[in-house]
Amino acid sequence: MRGVRWRVGGGSDIETVFPTQFRMAEKFTIENPDVTYNKDYIEAVYPYQTTHVYEEDGSIKVKPCSTKFTFRTERKVPKLGVMLVGWGGNNGTTVTAAVLANKLGLSWMTKTGEKVANYYGSLFQASTVCLGTGPAGDVYVPFKDLLPTVNPNDIVFDGWDISSMNLADAMVRAQVLDWQLQEQLKPHMKKFHPRPSVYIPEFIAANQEDRADNLIQGSKKEQVEQIRKDIGDFKAKSGVGKVIVLWTANTERFCDVIPGVNDTAENLMKTIECGREVSPSSMFAVASILEGCAYINGSPQNTFVPGVVDLAIKHKVFIGGDDFKSGQTKIKSVLVDFLVSAGLKTVSIVSYNHLGNNDGKNLSAPEQFRSKEISKSNVVDDMVQSNPILYKPSEKPDHCVVIKYVPYVGDSKRAMDEYTSEIMMGGTNTIVLHNTCEVCQISVLFGYYGGFGARQRTCIENILRACLALPPQNHMFLEHKMQRSFVTTQISTMLF
Ligand SMILES: NC(=O)c1ccc[n+]([C@@H]2O[C@H](COP(=O)([O-])OP(=O)(O)OC[C@H]3O[C@@H](n4cnc5c(N)ncnc54)[C@H](O)[C@@H]3O)[C@@H](O)[C@H]2O)c1
Repeated sequence: MRGVRWRVGGGSDIETVFPTQFRMAEKFTIENPDVTYNKDYIEAVYPYQTTHVYEEDGSIKVKPCSTKFTFRTERKVPKLGVMLVGWGGNNGTTVTAAVLANKLGLSWMTKTGEKVANYYGSLFQASTVCLGTGPAGDVYVPFKDLLPTVNPNDIVFDGWDISSMNLADAMVRAQVLDWQLQEQLKPHMKKFHPRPSVYIPEFIAANQEDRADNLIQGSKKEQVEQIRKDIGDFKAKSGVGKVIVLWTANTERFCDVIPGVNDTAENLMKTIECGREVSPSSMFAVASILEGCAYINGSPQNTFVPGVVDLAIKHKVFIGGDDFKSGQTKIKSVLVDFLVSAGLKTVSIVSYNHLGNNDGKNLSAPEQFRSKEISKSNVVDDMVQSNPILYKPSEKPDHCVVIKYVPYVGDSKRAMDEYTSEIMMGGTNTIVLHNTCEVCQISVLFGYYGGFGARQRTCIENILRACLALPPQNHMFLEHKMQRSFVTTQISTMLF
């Protein structure tokens, strides 16, 4: 077995182990015949346990099932390119600037002292996972070290925007980052120019028209072809091995799902060819899928009409995401999950926001607001439907969402929420929250992929553990409850 070095208490010094402090493993290998390491891959044979429920002879049967998977992880991470649709917006400029600031190791003064570039808020860069239990307690590893992962500092950015502004000026327009940091970043950011994009005025608010000066011309078919060419051009010029396309442009109105128009991949492609209704975000998704690039949607809209999903399945390309859900919407999904899981009957949810950035301006139009309202409401539905003890069929909590555009507050969004739940014997419980933050700073960092809560985190962690044939974290803690040690590793095998 390879030597293990412990980092104590999360600090940077390698020290002797003290029983009361947590431990960070620097490097580790899995001791399991089902896991093999070679120069290029880590291969793991993993039994995936599920529970099948079925009806037989009028009674419900429950059967545990096990499916064997073999996961192969490349040890050498690819050079990764990320193309942002809406690159010149608040999110687009902030994520590009933040990665650059980390890469360059920048620091800057503010009225509260010196700040140093960091990745706080990033699941992979700033959180840890428990590897297991050692002789002196739990051992943690940075999430990013569980498997080989791309260092965000190495990501190459590119993208499109209907506004031609270079990224230095767009960063100033966004009013998100401290001025001294912006000044240091400007010479680097001004080299970035968004590529022209698809603009179909009816999909975003009319108040966005004045920034639309950077447009791909031609028919819808030609526009999709141009996006495909752009992806190819970026790959060739930057030398990246993999490209992910991420929609962080304005929220679109919902697109009607119409049989014969966008219900299958074939019909959708015909619709694009003959120029019928298709949203710009669906056109970007189609182009990405055809180029074999994963596509992530960060806005609350129905980009993934059935035809897009069908196309992605046919081409075996990953698509995902439905709104970044980084602030109020995230709290809502986590809190309703917590309340209903605790057996409380949440009966009223009232969410009020005001914000003054361009996202707020776009959402002040009724159809775009409706997309956001649906996204915020949907996060509650699954939890409510999962509990027929508390909710009758089709019963839902009262749910009201208000978003107001107040230019003065800029990117600093204020959200006020009130959750009322019925508790036992006619009592009520009301939780009131007030949340103020720079929305683009909270949403840009790799919490990215929608509605991030405890379940999603556990899901990602367990999938990564499965790639090493490690059992999922089950939080049963039987070793404590039964007062038994299941640790077989001898302390003598460790090197300090
Ligand atoms: N910031 C957050 O916390 C957060 C949270 C959840 C969801 N979102 C969603 O993320 C999206 C981006 O937010 P933001 O604050 O960066 O908005 P923003 O308005 O600052 O940026 C959007 C950018 O998209 C561009 N754009 C519009 N249509 C385009 C098109 N067809 N092609 C290319 N570019 C186009 C605009 O010119 C603008 O530069 C919004 O839909 C917002 O609702 C943001």
